[in-house]
Amino acid sequence: MTEAAWSFVDDFITEKLMSPQGAQQETLRLNQQAGLPAIDVSPPLGKLLYLLACLGGAQQILEIGTLGGYSTIWLARALGPQGKVVSIDVDRKHLSVARENLVREGLNERVELRLGRGREVLDKLKEEDCSPFDFSFIDADKENNAYYFNCAVELSRPGALIFVDNVIRAGGVTDPESADEGAQGARRLFDVISADSRVEATALQTVGSKGWDGFLIARVNAK
Ligand code: DHB
Ligand code: MG
Repeated sequence: MTEAAWSFVDDFITEKLMSPQGAQQETLRLNQQAGLPAIDVSPPLGKLLYLLACLGGAQQILEIGTLGGYSTIWLARALGPQGKVVSIDVDRKHLSVARENLVREGLNERVELRLGRGREVLDKLKEEDCSPFDFSFIDADKENNAYYFNCAVELSRPGALIFVDNVIRAGGVTDPESADEGAQGARRLFDVISADSRVEATALQTVGSKGWDGFLIARVNAK
């Protein structure tokens, strides 16, 4: 099977299980028009994030890597009226596009956008003693994934879920010599998690409109 076929199947899933508005085709179109890289999650993956956040009854969600807000909108839709997404991005333009998309979707009030380097904003959140997160989605620069994961665990309530995108990198995760910084970041993440008794985790490979990649899901152990 080729990437074109994987993409065709993603389109089929999207068409059958989501309306164009539900799949937020408008957000994807505007992100592309604004010149943002086309590395939003796919519609099927966005809906999986939404369903997982719904299942866990998430009220406080952390997102690391906002981009144009495509995944942010999926996550914000899962919240009850009292819920909140805190979403971090280092790029001012990303956040201004995300803000426009959130306003159009009527979800602006549920999302707090934080501008800054992931490490710095997360360190600040820890100092702020914010309410613990029920669900975290990590999808920013892959080199810092182990650091981001550790922060997400510290900021989570017991039983919370942490979802990390792009941990397979076309199989590069298994190659110690990989020249892909992202694959090296994913390798470090697996090393850190394999020695972390605070969580239980698994990962799944995926193919689709974004090629061959995958995600990791961890549950923070109840104390
Ligand atoms: C890249 C980043 C992503 O978050 C993604 O889903 C796919 C690719 C990248 O930086 O290459
Ligand atoms: Mg991603």
